Amino acid sequence: MSDAVAELKAEALLAISAAADAEALAQVEREYLGRKGRLSSLMRGIGKLPAGERPAFGQAVNTARQEVTARAAERREALLSGPVPSGEPPLDVTLPGRAPQVGRPHPLAVTFDRVAAVLTGLGFQEMHGPEVEEYQYNFAALNYPEEHPAMDEQMSFYLAEDLLLRTQTTALQGRVMPTLEPPFRVFTLGRCFRYEAVDATHSHTFHQVDGFMVDHVVSLADLKGTLAALARELFGEEVEVRFRPDFFPFVEPGVEIAVSSRGGWLELGGAGLIHPHVLRYVGLDPEAWSGFAFGLGLDRMPMHAHGIRDIRLLFENDLRLLRQF
Ligand code: DAH
Repeated sequence: MSDAVAELKAEALLAISAAADAEALAQVEREYLGRKGRLSSLMRGIGKLPAGERPAFGQAVNTARQEVTARAAERREALLSGPVPSGEPPLDVTLPGRAPQVGRPHPLAVTFDRVAAVLTGLGFQEMHGPEVEEYQYNFAALNYPEEHPAMDEQMSFYLAEDLLLRTQTTALQGRVMPTLEPPFRVFTLGRCFRYEAVDATHSHTFHQVDGFMVDHVVSLADLKGTLAALARELFGEEVEVRFRPDFFPFVEPGVEIAVSSRGGWLELGGAGLIHPHVLRYVGLDPEAWSGFAFGLGLDRMPMHAHGIRDIRLLFENDLRLLRQF
């Protein structure tokens, strides 16, 4: 009779390992372990056995039950957490979702956009030159005589004798003026590079905007009007623009530009009327044409606006800074 127990147990174990999912397993459990299941029915026959065999039989059935129950539990576990079909990642639909990381515009990018929007509105056309520039455009076209000390201020990264990382976006003038039919208004924004010791206010990489306009009669008043319009958009209606005499080889007269700010002055860059040598270099007759040019540093604007005290913070992509905008 305990052969019957062993046989039934073997059959039950086989059915359990064949169960393909939780539902099939529950079905198997009902069939063998349920109150009216087949193992329970075996027990009901115990009364027909000789009294001496009953305890051993009962024991055998109980052991079989326990084994089948335990194996069914194992199988359930395996079905729930079992190996996932390869290729598909495990998916737990009960986990909370992951919030998408939302990016924000970098303060410098915002400055670029605002400056470009104002200048475009004033009729300036945006153009771009290369960051690796020819000596010719970075210096010669801009009226720097060879060995002129003004070049020392623009400590440069040379890649070859006639090739360097541009030290100023002003280099665009000599490149594009010969391709344009005056009158024209152009601006450019971008990265510049100088061989500077890096500290809180100096960086080997920085950003400038340069603008220039050529027409029959262009004066310092046009320049000041243009810069005042730009400054008002960037710093507010009340801002004052200050010109002080300064020297740059490519303008005559030349000025330094500052804007009033919190009781002081914020120096932004330089400007002036385009030097006759520059006009001649690009094939324009200085008797017929005149122009103004200006160049402003862009990094200081967001630093000033947001109280960022170290220029390096603009370039480090530290989220603790960027998340604040
Ligand atoms: N390029 C000059 C600099 O980096 C700034 C500058 C001065 C630009 C006068 C101009 C200008 O276009 O007319 O220091």
